[in-house]
Amino acid sequence: MTSTKVSVSSASEPKDASRRVRRVVDKLARSRNLNIDAVRQALRDAIKRANDMRALGFLHYAGVIDLHLPDGCKVAIIPDWHIPAHDRQVSFMVKQWLTDFRPDIIIVIGDAADMFGLSRWPKPPRVVANTQSELDETRRIIDEIIECSGCMHLFYILGNHEDRGRRTQIDPNANVASLIDPNTNEPILNFHQLMGYNPGDPITFIYGAFEDGGFGGGILTNKEIKFIHGNKVAPKPGASPYREADAAGKSIGQGHTHRFGKRARRNSKGLIRSFEFGHLGDERHPYLGYAFNTNWHQGLAEGHVHGGLLHIQMLPIKKIKDKATGQTKSLMLADGKLYQSSGY
Ligand SMILES: [Fe+2]
Repeated sequence: MTSTKVSVSSASEPKDASRRVRRVVDKLARSRNLNIDAVRQALRDAIKRANDMRALGFLHYAGVIDLHLPDGCKVAIIPDWHIPAHDRQVSFMVKQWLTDFRPDIIIVIGDAADMFGLSRWPKPPRVVANTQSELDETRRIIDEIIECSGCMHLFYILGNHEDRGRRTQIDPNANVASLIDPNTNEPILNFHQLMGYNPGDPITFIYGAFEDGGFGGGILTNKEIKFIHGNKVAPKPGASPYREADAAGKSIGQGHTHRFGKRARRNSKGLIRSFEFGHLGDERHPYLGYAFNTNWHQGLAEGHVHGGLLHIQMLPIKKIKDKATGQTKSLMLADGKLYQSSGY
């Protein structure tokens, strides 16, 4: 995998990675009989309409994006990755899957970056934190999945961990967090600027309505399923987004809890579904030192738009002990193919 940064901005000399991404996307669209320009334009129009005409190239958005995905569109949903405390074996497997699945859209549902260095929780002695290297690693992996999947656009919903950057500025003096960069008219330090993407890159960072992360921002797909990072936490898998779904009268897909499950119920408003997508972190990593005795489950999901609706297939990741080597391996079954990691 390359660490080349992906950009499809209107630079006169596109980078190699951009050219590769364009080639892959065009080939993919042809093979599916999709009009790539129409799909891309529909997406951009949707973002543009909802974006209050911000002159930012729509790199970031505050609130819930109302997105209509056309039939034939494939979506990959990536829950809490917690980079650099991610499960490396699982991540390799996820990239293999994305390479095969070829989603048109990727939804990163928050906490892709752990932001341990900016956490306000007490840090254990000897656990080294370097915020810049955490951001660099997150950027590298986000670039990789844009490139290997050939996706047209990646939506990055901010989680409470990405919001650590904003909260850590409020701590010493709330006015620090409210200082505005005169060039961008944005808060001086914000997650999307730290990630180093530019307007026109195939990525949109989604904040809450008050430019906070984690609680409020999201994507409503085809007027039916809302993807949010989530903030309700219930012990049983599928129950956390169900609380949200029941209250909102809309189907909800969320991360945050690191649990994996789904529920459905028909009420007077119709069929309400709730999806909880699990996580892709490494529970043994010192950054996730609070992960003892957890009720966490690894997984992710894929979606297909058909008949104007987004259909979701949950993909659990299971750990097994390889009898021959005694090593622990991760397995995931997707589209009839068994993906497995190397052991550790
Ligand atoms: Fe998380």
